[in-house]
Amino acid sequence: MGNNKRLFIETYGCQMNVYDSEVVLSILGAHGYSPCGSLEEADLILVNTCSIRDNAEQRVWGRLDRFLQEKKKRIVRVGVLGCMAERLKQELLSHPAVDIVAGPDTYRELPAMLLRLEESGDKQIDTALSMKETYADIEPVRTDRNGVTSFISIMRGCNNMCTYCIVPYVRGAERSRDPQSIVREAGNLYKAGYKEVNLLGQNVDSYLWKNPENPTETVTFAQLIELVALIAPDLRVRFSTSHPKDMGNAVLYSMAMYPNICTHIHLPVQSGSDRMLEKMNRKYTVESYLERIAKIHEIVPDAAITTDIIAGFCSETEEDHQATLELMRRVRYDSAFMFQYSQRPGTKAARHFPDDVPTEVKTRRLNEIIELQSAISLERNRECIGSTYEVLIEGASKRDSGSLFGRTSSNKVCVFPALGHRPGEYVRVAVESCTSATLLGNIVE
Ligand code: 5AD
Ligand code: SF4
Repeated sequence: MGNNKRLFIETYGCQMNVYDSEVVLSILGAHGYSPCGSLEEADLILVNTCSIRDNAEQRVWGRLDRFLQEKKKRIVRVGVLGCMAERLKQELLSHPAVDIVAGPDTYRELPAMLLRLEESGDKQIDTALSMKETYADIEPVRTDRNGVTSFISIMRGCNNMCTYCIVPYVRGAERSRDPQSIVREAGNLYKAGYKEVNLLGQNVDSYLWKNPENPTETVTFAQLIELVALIAPDLRVRFSTSHPKDMGNAVLYSMAMYPNICTHIHLPVQSGSDRMLEKMNRKYTVESYLERIAKIHEIVPDAAITTDIIAGFCSETEEDHQATLELMRRVRYDSAFMFQYSQRPGTKAARHFPDDVPTEVKTRRLNEIIELQSAISLERNRECIGSTYEVLIEGASKRDSGSLFGRTSSNKVCVFPALGHRPGEYVRVAVESCTSATLLGNIVE
């Protein structure tokens, strides 16, 4: 469709949003929009947004003011996509910069919305959520810069209803994508030279595909990762996020069986206090969580385990906080994403539990958590010194142009002198030193 417009898309939030932006580029690419590198060149600016914590939303409001300045200079259209679009609907549409508001399940409507906007001059909004949409047939336009690793969304939405979390409200009900379309997408990436795919879902362990023609024919997550692993032995398979209440042993056996399924599990714990876990509606206890950890060590002995932790959830006491620190010491996570609790309007916690931990207490507890984790991460990395790991090279090191960086199967970032090697190659690296975030070493033949 020859209208040749330039599209600039800015993405906030999780990897799922990065993937969705690639889907949007593909949909609009078929309608004459090609990506451009800066908002100053764009005919259409899209911002794909996150609602998980209040600070993610505040950043986007700031960007909308910036886009408004641009609109005062010239003709440019602005659309808000994603989780904030879904949550705030008309409130976003009322911002003077905004022409279009589109929720996560309405991206196929974007070309029609843009057309109506041009014809009528009226702002457009569509935030319908779908029980079926998985964008299975759309081949995303990749925006990663390395051409080595890429994301594939295997499911959408979430049914878990953790009391603090906005995701089920903004991304709708959980639905699994047709496994054939996932394998096809991974195969195409491999043919294009990619060496690693990262399978994404809010809770990958509840992935379950039922053949609509024959509902007794199903594919589980453990089966899906095997299907992807079978594409090629040198195509690495990663996945996230696992849920402690649903992660069974079958996934672990698949990991143990296929050397190209990476030995890393992201298993968010959120808190080390049973009282908090109950209040968060996580549906596991510290004891059952530790049993899962023990199984990981038993079946995939060299697996790295990472987590998410929330500090200062409603009514959290000093004792609850100490329990979290204690659990961290027991599990010894390789790394963690750590956050202060941020109340999200409309969630069960916002409706029923007072947000009663003072900000300074949340911040102090978060800092204690971060400090402990950084000491544990350093210890964990030190344990790698003296060992040799297979590393997939992703690109040039940011700090040192003569060096490359890549990841071990366990997802640790490794930096080493290039010696003529290139992104996309597998090399063996002997680790000689480290920081809490990076392994440093040399390629060995
Ligand atoms: N406040 C703080 N952190 C949150 N997360 C989800 N909701 C909130 C919230 N309201 C964190 C959880 C989750 C990660 C993606 O974000 O730790 O695992
Ligand atoms: Fe991703 Fe959740 Fe943020 Fe949406 S709210 S972008 S699903 S992290």
